[in-house]
Amino acid sequence: MCGIVGYIGKKPVYDILINGLKKLEYRGYDSTGVMIYNQKVLIKKSKGKVTDLESLFTNSEEKKGSVGIGHTRWATHGPPNTVNSHPHSSSSGEITIVHNGIIENYDSIKKILIKKGYKFQSDTDSEVLANLIEDVKKTKKVKLGKAVHYALKQVVGAYAVVIFDSSNPNEIVGARLGSPLAIGVGDSEYYFGSDATPFLEFTKRCIYLNDNEMFVVSLKKGLTLREIKMDSIVDPYIQELKQSIEEVEKGGYDHFMLKEIFEQPQSIIDTFRGRLISPKDPISISSIEKHFEVFKNANRIIFISCGTSWHSSLLAEYYFEELLRIPVEVEYASEFRYRNPIINKGDIVIPVSQSGETADTLAAIKLAKERGAFLYGICNVVGSSIARETHTGIYTHAGSEIGVASTKAFSCQISLLLLMALKLGEKLGTIEKTRYKRILAELNNLPKSIRKVLSKNNIIEDISKKFINSSNFLYLGRGYNFPIALEGALKLKEISYIHAEGYPAAEMKHGPIALIDEKMPVVVIATKKGSYHKVLSNVMEIKARGAEIIAIVSKNDTEIIDIADHVIEIPNCDELIAPILANIPLQLLSYHIANKKGCNVDQPRNLAKSVTVE
Ligand code: F6R
Repeated sequence: MCGIVGYIGKKPVYDILINGLKKLEYRGYDSTGVMIYNQKVLIKKSKGKVTDLESLFTNSEEKKGSVGIGHTRWATHGPPNTVNSHPHSSSSGEITIVHNGIIENYDSIKKILIKKGYKFQSDTDSEVLANLIEDVKKTKKVKLGKAVHYALKQVVGAYAVVIFDSSNPNEIVGARLGSPLAIGVGDSEYYFGSDATPFLEFTKRCIYLNDNEMFVVSLKKGLTLREIKMDSIVDPYIQELKQSIEEVEKGGYDHFMLKEIFEQPQSIIDTFRGRLISPKDPISISSIEKHFEVFKNANRIIFISCGTSWHSSLLAEYYFEELLRIPVEVEYASEFRYRNPIINKGDIVIPVSQSGETADTLAAIKLAKERGAFLYGICNVVGSSIARETHTGIYTHAGSEIGVASTKAFSCQISLLLLMALKLGEKLGTIEKTRYKRILAELNNLPKSIRKVLSKNNIIEDISKKFINSSNFLYLGRGYNFPIALEGALKLKEISYIHAEGYPAAEMKHGPIALIDEKMPVVVIATKKGSYHKVLSNVMEIKARGAEIIAIVSKNDTEIIDIADHVIEIPNCDELIAPILANIPLQLLSYHIANKKGCNVDQPRNLAKSVTVE
């Protein structure tokens, strides 16, 4: 949460900061602020979005300067008002800081600093860090780099920080522990960002900081990278980024979310590239081939994840148990990390994450690692913390996902998890050959099948009009479609603020059925095969109680089509493929309902794309 940008060089900094912040708004959008240095420090901040901040710059003189830092905030300590917005300054105004993370021991440090005469304007932990750095700098009589180093050794918590000292304006210092930070390396100029998107248009040369690393960038001396605990110099690893700027722009769509929904056929092609070559060829996943013995001898597989990625993991449980016959557990990372879980020799832990930066998932990984588990990471963002903290793994290659509600990343996760299960099942001999081949052929056809579902967009938009005033929704599915019911409900609630619950269809009679009346729309995923006829009975029960039913059915359905009020067809397919296709109309339904209600689809209230705090 929270996005950080920064620049030091010769270019005018204002546009770099403002455009960079706009690209990072997905990380938080409660308030924004920038510091620009031009002979003196100028700080402007505003509650709300980057456009609110822009309107504060009425004088072009104020935009001048070639050094600056900026921040877009997802509030943790203190309400989202102007005072609590970043950047924060030390009491003297010499040190300015932008911070993403939480300083857990900020209160005790603050008390000591107050006794020493430091004054505080905001409720934030970040202002405490600014004053602590100033205090260390003055008492130890050291330069900014050393002061940051000493100060960070005193703090407990998580941070990505970028710091400026007006007494030496040719230098910027930064550090990371638990929250991401990237440096863009230009020609005698440096860019800083929570990810690379703010500087992608200027440089593709990027250094991703590791935990416990800090940097000093000086226009005279260049960049020095240091390991904080060991106090040792580190050789920077500069990566050449492959991401294009088009990937992070809307490309003619009204919202990133809609663009990302329509990108799904291509994202699946990218995810399968080099892995699923043709229906006849075996699946090629090098990380599985290399570690096949570990999978072969596994007693148990534990998936750990949060939110939408947890729904992928739940579907993976169905896939893996069916195709591998290995026991699977699915854990919320936030529960797993605090409940003293049992990890035995031979357990494989698979964290699943889009961002690769989710704090709870990272903490769960660390715990599982300490207890001897083999960690196989699945994430989308290349070079992210989860990719680095696991023993091996696989990238989903969904491409940049900017919309806060996850869409294409989820589709790629579940498609890849099915591919992995097929690969392992085939190698272990736990899947029957003809079934294996049939599903492979269907996976090869998946991008085409998704395009067919996307062609129903207008029908779904029409259906959505009826539900913009609904207050509650129920989503029901069984078997492989149950995780999709949960995901459909999450998508609707997070972007439209309509309360929605996902349930296994048969559980309805154990309680939720009491809620059903004509004011409760029910979305039923009732694709052919599997439990179709059982779901059909559930549909009859709902109908008898007057609810309006939206059904996702297989093409040429002849039974539910007569009962449901609205029907969206997906192509006929194997029951393992059905959830991947059935999810897509639910994404579109949520999108259109939220959009028609006038909600901010890409940046729903209170949310952030990458949850780097607990
Ligand atoms: C919902 C959504 C979140 C994330 C969750 C985990 O649309 O995106 O529920 O799935 O915050 O994030 P990652 O996958 O980045 O670990």
